[in-house]
Amino acid sequence: MLIGDKVRLRALERSDLPAVVRWMNDPGVTEHLLNAPLTGLQEMEAWYEGNIGSNDRLLAILDPRGDLVGYCGISRLEWEDRRCNLWITIGECDAWDKGYGTDTVRTMLRYLFDELNLNRVSLTVAEDNARAIRVYERCGFIREGIARKARFKYGTYRNDVTMAIVKEAWGR
Ligand SMILES: CC(C)(COP(=O)(O)OP(=O)(O)OC[C@H]1O[C@@H](n2cnc3c(N)ncnc32)[C@H](O)[C@@H]1OP(=O)(O)O)[C@@H](O)C(=O)NCCC(=O)NCCS
Repeated sequence: MLIGDKVRLRALERSDLPAVVRWMNDPGVTEHLLNAPLTGLQEMEAWYEGNIGSNDRLLAILDPRGDLVGYCGISRLEWEDRRCNLWITIGECDAWDKGYGTDTVRTMLRYLFDELNLNRVSLTVAEDNARAIRVYERCGFIREGIARKARFKYGTYRNDVTMAIVKEAWGR
């Protein structure tokens, strides 16, 4: 369990997956997601199973009342280079703009830098996802580049932004 100021993060359980399926089938949630295929429970369970034993980590985000409001994780963990990718989705829309996203990212960074001793955490975000970019910049992520017309969504090609934070900038 990782304890933040507002949220708590614990391992994602199989029993959380019906909520994840609901979120991934909500266009309001998936609007800005880079990768959100329409997924049913069986497929979601196969994805979950596939993660067991891998270096990827899947975490449930609990609000101050202990209710499940989202999930997050790390992927592409490279021990030699001490880096990984971070991703997050608050799936309950009524939990947006309450600081949970910021607290989740900060809690993850504390874990990744101070406990796992990683040196760099990066992510990719849709350029039009202003809420997410606001959160990442507030947590210390810096825009490193733009992948032009990287994603086809709602009939047009859209840009993706790559952002990252390195350990020496963490906590400054
Ligand atoms: C993006 C997301 C993780 C942010 O989490 P959150 O809990 O809503 O974020 P916070 O409450 O910590 O902060 C949101 C900030 O964005 C601001 N904001 C909200 N809408 C905004 C907009 N359209 N443009 C700019 N800023 C916006 C809020 O005012 C708040 O800033 P403030 O605290 O200075 O007022 C969450 O909304 C989410 O999961 N959305 C759907 C999936 C998604 O986009 N995931 C990220 C993929 S890279």
